Amino acid sequence: MDSAISARGLTKVYGKLTAVDHVDMDVRRGGIFGLLGPNGAGKTTIIKLLTGLSEPTEGEASVAGFDIRRQPMHVKKNIGWVAAEVILDDDLSGWENLWLQAKLQRLTDWKGRADDLLRYFELTDRQKDRVGTYSTGMRKKMEIALALLHQPQVVFMDEPTIGLDPNVRRMLWKLITGVNQEFGITVLLTSHYIEEADALCDQVAIIDRGKFVARGTPAELKSRIQNDFIELETGPDVTEEKLAALPGVTEVRTQGKDWILKVTSAEVTLPHLFSAFPENAIRNVSIHRPSLESVFIDITGHKIDQAGGDVQDFRKFYMTMRRARQ
Ligand SMILES: Nc1ncnc2c1ncn2[C@@H]1O[C@H](COP(=O)(O)OP(=O)(O)OP(=O)(O)O)[C@@H](O)[C@H]1O
Ligand SMILES: [Mg+2]
Repeated sequence: MDSAISARGLTKVYGKLTAVDHVDMDVRRGGIFGLLGPNGAGKTTIIKLLTGLSEPTEGEASVAGFDIRRQPMHVKKNIGWVAAEVILDDDLSGWENLWLQAKLQRLTDWKGRADDLLRYFELTDRQKDRVGTYSTGMRKKMEIALALLHQPQVVFMDEPTIGLDPNVRRMLWKLITGVNQEFGITVLLTSHYIEEADALCDQVAIIDRGKFVARGTPAELKSRIQNDFIELETGPDVTEEKLAALPGVTEVRTQGKDWILKVTSAEVTLPHLFSAFPENAIRNVSIHRPSLESVFIDITGHKIDQAGGDVQDFRKFYMTMRRARQ
C-alpha cells in the first residue's frame, strides 16, 4: 500500500496514563483521514507523535515516507500542521504572518506560493490588514495557508473547525477538500464533529481512551449499525427496569443523568415510551439514526462530547524546520 502515514503499535505513556495505546494505522497518499474521539481520547497526542513533537514510548511510524524516529527532520520538512489553537500573530498583517512563517522555516522562493495561497483562500484583498481584524473564518484560512507555505505532502489539522459556526464550518470543508484535491495533499484531521468526518473523510478511525475501537469508510462504519438510539432525559420515576421492558428496547445504558436506549426502531418504541410514563417524567428525547454518531455510541457506550483543546507549541514545531534548513 502506498501510505502517506503508517503506524504500528504506536504508544505514548504519560506516567500511569496510556494516552495512545498500540495504534496501527495507514493513511493512503491523497486521502483524507479522520480521527474521531471525545476529549482526552488521544487525538492530539497521535498528531504530536506523527509530527515529531513528542517521542513515542513504543512502536513505530513513517510519515511522507520517512521514519519518525530516525528521520524526524525529513518528516518535518514534508508535513504541515494546523494546530487546534489560534497561532496567528494578530499584530501582523496576513502577508507578514506568511513572511514570519517563511522566516521561521528559512524558506526561499516562498512569495509566489504565498500569493497563490492568498488567492485560493480569498484573502488577497485583506493581506495588508492586521490579522487581528480578520473574522474567525478568515483566521482559520490564514492558519491553513501558513501550514501549506512550504508545500508539504501531508497536513495535520487538529480540530480545524472547532468553535466555528455551521456556515463557516461548511465553507472550510470545501476548502479542505480543495487543499486535498487541488494541491494533492494528504490530510489527517481530528474532530469531535461526526458530520465533519462524514462530509470530508474517506477513512475514519474512532479512538476512545487511546485505542482505535473502529475504522473504515464512513459508509462501512454506518452499515455496521442497524439500530436507532433514543437519548432520554427523565424524572426520577423512570427506572432501568421499566425502560428495558418497553417494546423494541434491546439495551439500556446510562450517560450521566441521561439514558440511552438501543432500539430496533425508534418508531416502535416511542409511542410506548410516552404511554408508559406520566407526561412530565420524560423531559427530553432525541433520536440517533444510524450515523457515525450512533456507531460511536454503540462501540464506546457513550456520546461523543464537546470539543476542547490544549495550547500547542506551534513556533517550536516550525523552528525545528528552520534548524533543519541551516
Ligand atoms: N504532556 C502530557 N502529560 C501528561 N498527560 C498528557 C499530556 N498530554 C496529553 N496528556 C493526556 O493524554 C490524554 C490524551 O490527550 P489528548 O490531548 O491527546 O486528547 P485529545 O483526544 O486531543 O482530546 P481533546 O479532544 O480534548 O483535544 C489525556 O488524558 C491528556 O490529559
Ligand atoms: Mg486534542
